[in-house]
Amino acid sequence: MRIGILTVSDRASRGVYEDKSGPAILEFLREVLTCQWEPRTLVIPDEQDQIESTLKAFCDDEGCCLVVTTGGTGPAQRDVTPEATEAVCEKLLPGFGELMREVSLKSVPTAILSRQTAGIRGKSLIVNLPGKPAAIRECLLAVMPAIPYCIDLIGGPFLTTNENVVKAFRPKS
Ligand code: MTE
Repeated sequence: MRIGILTVSDRASRGVYEDKSGPAILEFLREVLTCQWEPRTLVIPDEQDQIESTLKAFCDDEGCCLVVTTGGTGPAQRDVTPEATEAVCEKLLPGFGELMREVSLKSVPTAILSRQTAGIRGKSLIVNLPGKPAAIRECLLAVMPAIPYCIDLIGGPFLTTNENVVKAFRPKS
């Protein structure tokens, strides 16, 4: 089972500053997931073509059941991660962005500026997170309970979690 972690940032990709958000996603998933999985990580600039081709490579070539992006969700001219996500997904899941903004608004009024979304490409779920390292845990704690069932529904592997941190919700059929 593979999971992609994609940091989208002009400055982190040039080495102007250290990527802290990608490692925070990795740390969170290591804490929460109790199944065997391997990360695929990359730091790339805010270039829509490059974001789209990396998302496709993570989903189609690497077979990642989940790809979590961080950065490029705001209103600035170079912020194009949601556009790239929408371009490569067959289905959008706007509830992810709605919930993450709702939760984030409790700590920062500027959470309203994030256009973060999520969607399905083949058997992969792609979820956008904001670029701020502080946003990572807050956003992932909110959406993680629904992620294993979403991956079940699209024919992906069975994700299990540490219930002391995140309890995966699977409606009884
Ligand atoms: N969400 C949380 N939880 N915490 C934050 O600090 N920052 C906001 C918002 N969402 C933030 C957040 C800000 S200031 C911006 S501009 C947007 O996310 C978009 O950030 P991005 O362009 O780095 O993705």
